[in-house]
Amino acid sequence: MFYYQTDFDFSPSAKQYIKNIYKHKFNQNYYHDLDSSKLIDPISPPGREIIKFLSKYNLNIKYQGIMAFTSNSDTWFEGNPHVDIIRINGEQVPIRTRFNIMIEGNINDTMYWWKDISWGSDQLVQNKFTLRSGHSYDSYSIPGNSPKERWDYIGEPSDKKDKLLTPSAFVRTDCTHTVNVSPGPRLIITVAFAETFDDIVSR
Ligand SMILES: [Fe+2]
Repeated sequence: MFYYQTDFDFSPSAKQYIKNIYKHKFNQNYYHDLDSSKLIDPISPPGREIIKFLSKYNLNIKYQGIMAFTSNSDTWFEGNPHVDIIRINGEQVPIRTRFNIMIEGNINDTMYWWKDISWGSDQLVQNKFTLRSGHSYDSYSIPGNSPKERWDYIGEPSDKKDKLLTPSAFVRTDCTHTVNVSPGPRLIITVAFAETFDDIVSR
């Protein structure tokens, strides 16, 4: 199992609070990225709502805080297969699970998972990715010089899901995965966890 959908959604006022934080990002076109410049304050209205929900699973936000994936692409593009990592004290460690909530975007953007290549696999390579903003970062990904070459390398996905974030879901991120990106504003709130997906959804 790679995803577990939940009915958690932010209240209308909390959603508006989030939109106000990120609205400046939608004045320009850019590829999707994790907005590392802003965190949702844990004591803000959306912060309190998500922390209360996650406490039912005995989870907290301490691993990476409450962050957002934002994009405003001018074209549709196929996602890049990768494994999620976080840097703690300079060391790369896995993000095994994420909880994602869609605020804006196309619910038909499909997410894909491949079970065979996961954190620790020697098939993963360290790649440098450069965003359109010029910001670059390292991540573990599938061998290849483009998303197309990586898809060719990795073959058929183990599972896929569209209408995943309706409005929210836990997703496995320590095995190879990706999401296609539709053009236009896309805003997804995300919380990262060290705990495994199986551990979390069995609680
Ligand atoms: Fe990811």
